[in-house]
Amino acid sequence: MLRNGRRRIGVLTGGGDCPGLNAVIRGVAKASMSLYNMEVLGIEDGYEGLIERRVMPLDWEKVSGILTQGGTILGTSNRANPFRWPVKKDGEEVEFADVSDQVVEYVEELGLDTLVCIGGDGTMAIARQLSQKGVHIVGVPKTIDNDIWGTDITFGFDSALQTATEAIDKIHTTAMSHHRVMVVEVMGRYAGWLALESGIAGGGDVILIPEIPYRIEKVCEYVAQRSQRGRRFSIVVVAEGARPEGGDLVVQRVVKDSTDPIRLGGIGHVVARQIEEATGLETRVTVLGHLQRGGTPSAFDRILSTRFGVKAAELCFDGVGGVMVAVKGNEIVTVPLSDVGGKTRRVDPNHPLLAVARGVGTCLGD
Ligand code: F6P
Repeated sequence: MLRNGRRRIGVLTGGGDCPGLNAVIRGVAKASMSLYNMEVLGIEDGYEGLIERRVMPLDWEKVSGILTQGGTILGTSNRANPFRWPVKKDGEEVEFADVSDQVVEYVEELGLDTLVCIGGDGTMAIARQLSQKGVHIVGVPKTIDNDIWGTDITFGFDSALQTATEAIDKIHTTAMSHHRVMVVEVMGRYAGWLALESGIAGGGDVILIPEIPYRIEKVCEYVAQRSQRGRRFSIVVVAEGARPEGGDLVVQRVVKDSTDPIRLGGIGHVVARQIEEATGLETRVTVLGHLQRGGTPSAFDRILSTRFGVKAAELCFDGVGGVMVAVKGNEIVTVPLSDVGGKTRRVDPNHPLLAVARGVGTCLGD
């Protein structure tokens, strides 16, 4: 809709936060205002703001000085799904309702030509459903897990990788001083990118990822042999989604009303206990957890987020919808939202980085 000849767009951030969200918001908003003379509204707390009608105008002032800030100035939620919204009666949750029609009406009321949805696969799946209901959407792929289908990389991943690598470096020194086995559990959900890449960057001796179910005997044998060879410490990097051959994932909790209810976590403790019992070597665990989602974005993520944001603004101005911006090689491209939702980009068993890890003698547990 043109208001006084100006287009109006909305921006929301959904799902778990990560470094670079503010850089995208800034990129979208600044390019929209300076290049295309568009009005920008910020939607608060992801889709929740569309359901509960909470928005704020974004002017130049509001998006200045946020490039380097972690988190999101708009707030986020990984529970708000307009197609499955918990309805409460007397303060108690009674059932889930489809409130997507109200959301579509609200988008029309706000006069939004396009909604920019910055988020992970849950956010993209909802974006695809809303776009099937006629809402014009441009998606921007975010997540430290790097598991979104259709893009070579998501923003947030590089910063989390840096954090995890620095943590492994620090843990290395204690491992060496105390001659211990140190198990480091990293995030990543069902994909092993963060564990694999931080494991390689941090010189992990063992890397366990969801895509390669491990055999604990192999891991223990490897660690024991290192010790016998005089390497009196080992670093074991475990993805939260790793599981043994024929065994199950370790689930930390179930968040019933979340777009993805399963929260993984705890596999590091399981592996550590088994190593200590089998080898007799003193073993400790560090679960990096949400540290990996915080802090200032890396230079790479600041640039990627800004490129994504500026591209999203261009697409909004050009009236292109139903797409997600993505990286292919070194290019920023678009992929149809219909290709994205519901799929996970995992580490292919033939991925060259696995051969690299094996090449330097890393045990992958198989
Ligand atoms: O998707 C990002 C992520 O940090 C995953 O790596 C992790 O499994 C999950 O979110 C944790 O979610 P929450 O913040 O709800 O505990």
